[in-house]
Amino acid sequence: MLLKIAKSTALLVLAAYSLNAADFSAGAEKDRIEMIKYFEAKFADPEKNKDRFFPYSTEEELKNDYAKGLKHNDFNIGTYAFSKDAKAQYEAIKEMPPYEDAIDAGEELYNKKFANGNSFATCFPDPAVANIYPYYDEKKKDVVTLTSAVNDCLRDNGEKEFNTQKGDMANIQAYLVNATTEAGKKFDIKIQSEAAKKAYENGKEYYYTQRGYLKLSCATCHVQGAGQRVRNEKLSPLTGQITQFPVHRLKWEELGTLERRLSGCIVDQGQVSPKDESTQMKELVYFLAYMSNGMSIDGPDIRK
Ligand code: HEC
Repeated sequence: MLLKIAKSTALLVLAAYSLNAADFSAGAEKDRIEMIKYFEAKFADPEKNKDRFFPYSTEEELKNDYAKGLKHNDFNIGTYAFSKDAKAQYEAIKEMPPYEDAIDAGEELYNKKFANGNSFATCFPDPAVANIYPYYDEKKKDVVTLTSAVNDCLRDNGEKEFNTQKGDMANIQAYLVNATTEAGKKFDIKIQSEAAKKAYENGKEYYYTQRGYLKLSCATCHVQGAGQRVRNEKLSPLTGQITQFPVHRLKWEELGTLERRLSGCIVDQGQVSPKDESTQMKELVYFLAYMSNGMSIDGPDIRK
């Protein structure tokens, strides 16, 4: 009898615990699933759905340059998921990936000893961990991104921190992200407390806030606008948008971090970008990463 009671109490406690754990991410999970449904509907058949989703495109363009029937995991290559012409160019460049040297340089950095004898291998004993970043650190009461984790490792060991946009930072990330991609890992972003939920909500708010005299938000371009052409590029969708960083951009002629890309979009909106390791930037990245949850890490990659 006693055992029975003990058992059922344990079950109840377990049930309450999992309910609670689910509670903090319930809203984010709803956002994520709704977004997938929206993009699957939008890219099911752009030509047929012209009036609903692509009122400004020509029928000819919709017919000739848009792939059809896209599903959730197809969105992990941004604009190349649906733009046939851009995808052909992308695949041609991928034959000789321009970021191979960066991965090697990152591996060297990973194994190189700091002055105190430690190394990045001390901070990241398993290099295939990029899929859990960002996470909410309950002790620091702040979001930790891959970028801030790399710099925390340097600071904690008395080393000079890296520039957060390129160079060594992009190289070490290329090594960690490549290891994570090779291990076949998927984004696994967790929201496990009220404070973590708040951080996600702040990031979401940043994403949907309209700024500047054009009143543009990230969502204007990457949700409602996703798939529309801006000059000669089509806008990538929010779902799967950050599965591939760091990226080698043809425009940069080198590898850069996610923060470099994001600050570019923010500056293009006529705004001053938050600092790369600021709470505001980290919360934005937390939101973006959650929206890619369940999708494979697939970096480094190339972009125009
Ligand atoms: C005026 C439109 C516009 C706004 C507003 C905008 N972007 Fe972009 N963004 C672009 C264009 C154009 C590109 C390059 C084409 C593409 O990949 O979408 C791009 C690219 C990106 C990429 C890289 C996608 C990839 O596949 O590599 C990310 C990530 C991104 N934007 C995030 C954001 C975030 C976050 C915001 C808000 C802070 C934002 N953007 C605001 C136009 C915009």
